Amino acid sequence: MALSRLNLSPVVPASVLTLPHGPVNLPIFMPVATQATLKGLTPEQLEDTGCRLCLNNTYHLGLKPGQDVLAALGGAHRLQGWKHNILTDSGGFQMVSLLKLANITEEGVRFLSPHDGTPMLLTPEHSIGLQNTIGSDIIMQLDDVLVTTSPDKTRMREAMERSVRWLDRCIAAHTSPETQNLFCIIQGGLDIEMRRECTEKMLKRDTPGIAVGGLSGGEAKDDYCKVVSAITPMLPDLKPRYVMGIGYPEDLVVSVALGADMFDCVWPTRTARFGNAITSKGMLNLRNAKHMHDFGPIEEGCGCTCCRSRDEGGLGVTRSFINHNAAKETVAAHLLSIHNVWYQLELMRQVRQSIVQDRFPAFIRQFFADLYPTPAQYPKWAVDALKVVNIDLMDD
Ligand SMILES: *[C@@H]1O[C@H](CO)[C@@H](O)[C@H](O)[C@H]1NC(C)=O
Ligand SMILES: *[C@@H]1O[C@H](CO)[C@@H](O)[C@H](O)[C@H]1NC(C)=O
Ligand SMILES: [Zn+2]
Repeated sequence: MALSRLNLSPVVPASVLTLPHGPVNLPIFMPVATQATLKGLTPEQLEDTGCRLCLNNTYHLGLKPGQDVLAALGGAHRLQGWKHNILTDSGGFQMVSLLKLANITEEGVRFLSPHDGTPMLLTPEHSIGLQNTIGSDIIMQLDDVLVTTSPDKTRMREAMERSVRWLDRCIAAHTSPETQNLFCIIQGGLDIEMRRECTEKMLKRDTPGIAVGGLSGGEAKDDYCKVVSAITPMLPDLKPRYVMGIGYPEDLVVSVALGADMFDCVWPTRTARFGNAITSKGMLNLRNAKHMHDFGPIEEGCGCTCCRSRDEGGLGVTRSFINHNAAKETVAAHLLSIHNVWYQLELMRQVRQSIVQDRFPAFIRQFFADLYPTPAQYPKWAVDALKVVNIDLMDD
């Protein structure tokens, strides 16, 4: 894996990350469709959004088709006919969040099988073994995740220190470091000192990439920004910085300004299920009856397969069509997923282009101007966070 920066300032990153399945432009949003919400896009549809790195869940792949089948097939790229890059999570977070009865001990995450209730254990070694079989280009360490809002300082420290010990076990268990890039995950909740301490410990392990974990768990946006701004200046210039679980357009744009360059979130596909389209003017609920006779595309000027006219090789889907199909959940959800994933990827492409062309502050100002009727409505956390990196949202 290699990273080359296109701009000299690592504070606002634009780079090319070269992975085993081809180059990926950063900053990037990685789509993730959870099995629980809806069928993922087909590989062709995903490719058409410009996606060159998607996130798949180790937990789901481990359950179905399972490690034996994956090993026989030669991994997840073959399984789904995807020739670009894949990042897999460790599986731990999904277990802790999906299975109420999961317990964490030094050994690993103990849980009851969702199939038959038998006790099972996910260790750092199992997680890496599964990800090695999946063959993903980027693999994540198993970490001890605690919601940032937890008031239990002792438990927070335990989780942070255990995550470091688990990283060492992951590194030792990893059988293919030359083709699969292991990322560490920085923990420490909202405690800036603990985050810094964890960052120092993690950096000593010299993994190819670095992730910041545990955020987007209901903390105030101010606190989120403080954690990201405290960590990014400590990171080496030539390693990707992935903030996990981030996906609202404003959060993405502000986080890039704070020095992060990889993101993922289930929200774009999840919200599609409720009839919501993400647009540059905010969210649009197409179930609303007012769209029944609305024959425009989901968003004017959008280049996604749905919105593009038939002349341009698109589907020419109208808001009215989605409104009519809202009851048939899968059709509308599928189309909106295509649009929403495109929106997120296109947003990151535009952010990147503006950085390369040295007009990122102007881009951010325009982005917020499109999203809110007046500057008075801009969220204070965003204005404050951007001020810290010398971007004045109120400037015109
Ligand atoms: C992998 O992730 C992509 C993007 O979310 C999705 O379309 C695809 O269905 C996923 N594959 C599996 C096997 O879960
Ligand atoms: C988790 O711990 C609780 C309390 O010690 C116990 O009752 C439960 O069975 C444990 N669950 C698993 C999956 O080990
Ligand atoms: Zn569109």
